[in-house]
Amino acid sequence: MPQPNTKDDGPRHVAIIMDGNGRWATQRGRPRLFGHQAGARRVREIVEACPDLGVDYLTVFAFSTENWKRTQSEVAGLMNLFRRYITREAKALKANDVCVRFIGDRVRLDAKLVAMMDELEALTANCRTVNLTIAINYGGRDEVARATKRLARDVAEGRLSPEDVDEETLPKYLDTCVLPDPDLVIRTSGEARISNFLLWQSAYSEYEFIDTLWPDFTADEFRSVVGGFGTRERRFGAVVA
Ligand code: FPP
Repeated sequence: MPQPNTKDDGPRHVAIIMDGNGRWATQRGRPRLFGHQAGARRVREIVEACPDLGVDYLTVFAFSTENWKRTQSEVAGLMNLFRRYITREAKALKANDVCVRFIGDRVRLDAKLVAMMDELEALTANCRTVNLTIAINYGGRDEVARATKRLARDVAEGRLSPEDVDEETLPKYLDTCVLPDPDLVIRTSGEARISNFLLWQSAYSEYEFIDTLWPDFTADEFRSVVGGFGTRERRFGAVVA
């Protein structure tokens, strides 16, 4: 079971719903992809701010299972941006000791992108300073459904007994099985919704909804939001004296 933290504890795992790229671009009279490109550049700055803040795990929502409903050109532009991000950032991520993982269903992704994701995971597998998890074609419900399918297969084939299925067993089947639950979930752009992000994992997370559009979200603002977390008292349903 999670333990109540003391008031001064900072968040060890921060997850971010990077929202507002489209509006940021529209405000400048530019195409939506321009906003996504600016948003991708912000990711580096936020990753680099993590070690000093004691944030060991950073998880970012880059593309949801619902985002396929966007225009074909926006989807293609985002997929291209993910490939370019991997090519451009791989060296710096490795040099900064950042272990990169991807979560989400890879089946619908282009084979070239999946190969690049696999390569970046392998390249950074032994890095320890920050754990960066990028969610691509990720949906919390889809993740739970995929996990349940694998779990059901283990039951059907005799590797797991139905009596052993509990709160400890199920998360072992989730994409996030090696990650701790997020302590803090930040969403930019003023929307106060979870949008199918880390549904199981964020049961006890604190939420911060920030008005800033993602491309304007600086490391300074990140530091201030993370700093504010220390003033929250987390009880996980218990009574703390
Ligand atoms: C939501 O803003 C943002 C996305 C769907 C894409 C997020 C992608 C990035 C920040 C860039 C790539 C990141 C990595 C890690 C390579 P929106 O388009 O819904 O904005 P809007 O609500 O203003 O329209």
